[in-house]
Amino acid sequence: MDKKSLLDDLIKKYTLKHKKSEEIFGKALKYQIRGGSHNLRLFAPFPIYDVQCLGSKVMDADGNMYIDFWQGHFANILGHNPKIVLNALVEYFQEEQGLTTGFPGNYQRELAELILKRIEADKIRFTTSGTLATMYSLMLAKAFTKRELVVKVGGGWHGAQPYALKGISVYDQGINQVESAGLPTGVDSMIVMTRFNDTEDLENKFRTYGERIACLILEPFIGAGGFIFSHKDYLQRARELTRQYGSLLIFDEVISGFRFHPGGVHSLYGIKPDLTAFGKAIGGGMPVSAVAGGDDVMALCSPEARTEEKVKFEGGTFSAHPASMLAGLTYIKYLIEHESEIYPVIGELGAKVRKGIEEIFTSYGFNVKCTGYGNSIAENSSIVGVQFLSEKVDRITSPEQVWNPKICDIELREKIFKLAMLERGFNIFHGYGAISAAHTGSEIQASLDAVEKIAMEWRK
Ligand SMILES: Cc1ncc(COP(=O)(O)O)c(C=O)c1O
Repeated sequence: MDKKSLLDDLIKKYTLKHKKSEEIFGKALKYQIRGGSHNLRLFAPFPIYDVQCLGSKVMDADGNMYIDFWQGHFANILGHNPKIVLNALVEYFQEEQGLTTGFPGNYQRELAELILKRIEADKIRFTTSGTLATMYSLMLAKAFTKRELVVKVGGGWHGAQPYALKGISVYDQGINQVESAGLPTGVDSMIVMTRFNDTEDLENKFRTYGERIACLILEPFIGAGGFIFSHKDYLQRARELTRQYGSLLIFDEVISGFRFHPGGVHSLYGIKPDLTAFGKAIGGGMPVSAVAGGDDVMALCSPEARTEEKVKFEGGTFSAHPASMLAGLTYIKYLIEHESEIYPVIGELGAKVRKGIEEIFTSYGFNVKCTGYGNSIAENSSIVGVQFLSEKVDRITSPEQVWNPKICDIELREKIFKLAMLERGFNIFHGYGAISAAHTGSEIQASLDAVEKIAMEWRK
């Protein structure tokens, strides 16, 4: 397979089919760096610009229709623009209530109560992005413990905030580089890297840095690191070690929260973190995120906290925006009330896709393995990653493998396969993406048929 000519050919076909998107992108380049505000959305040669999104589908500026597995950065568990949320918002706006007022509002109280009943925490405070939620979590942990070091998992993405911008990508030296300029001095030595799901490495890090560690932050289901669930014994050991050394355990559930069941996955594992960061799904399509935790830690963002330990987790003109709170409330209520119709169904579709893709590619002679597999604790995984393996590897188990071009063909996964699936009417991400309750069985089957055609072509 000649990857270069395959990619060139796909780009040519893509460009022909997306004249209007190309034109919009050209104009955007004049005013915006790389033509937009979020680099992930601006894939090469230029992104498709959506004009209408409903359920599983997206229509772009050129009138092309796509079945979408990107689904709003995996936030849209009910698909695009679910009617229940739109109707609630329309009614709310018609009552001249929808825009920001600067008053606390009742919906946030209701959403707080609803979420807290589903997770292991005493108090919750809302903000507007997953990035801010993890940043405030780390500030709380540092203030609470009066310590400086953050232990972070290699490959973990917690948003672009100063305390977690290290160890996301794989370099020759491993996953241990600071990945942004403009950070506070000394940030490199403040973040200690550990390996995902590696209990022994975690024990070593706590043995070495022990009493200096403010917290360990990790995703129980690692997202950007490759869609892999934590092992239960790893999380249990993480809980024990953080307790033993007086550090806090922070779970970043920005992706996993309400994605696999209506709550945090920490409840499925039976492990109570000190703090949990939520985002994505909890806003029902609006910008909502949250930090939840025990009374003692959360109290540090109170105006009554002692000055020397007070954490300025308090700003945000748009935090707990009333329309966002209503959207989140409507959405979460729906997820809870329809739990049995949503989660097992999308989990089953996820399993079908993972199995189907592996079988198809194997039958055409490729070594392809999927990630996103659930386990006996979190059974209903609706997220799928596709890994084109460059060497014989049985299963992908770590971010180190997923982002190592010597093990996974990243160009094939992120560029070529993406354009090949777009060509056939499917918008995928990291090899496939997230299945929502709006996707039908026949759409899922159609996506597998498209995969089969691609595998057949590539084989030729
Ligand atoms: C696990 C995780 N944490 C935090 C973030 C940052 O969230 P946001 O993009 O809403 O700032 C993301 C974003 O994808 C994420 O996947």
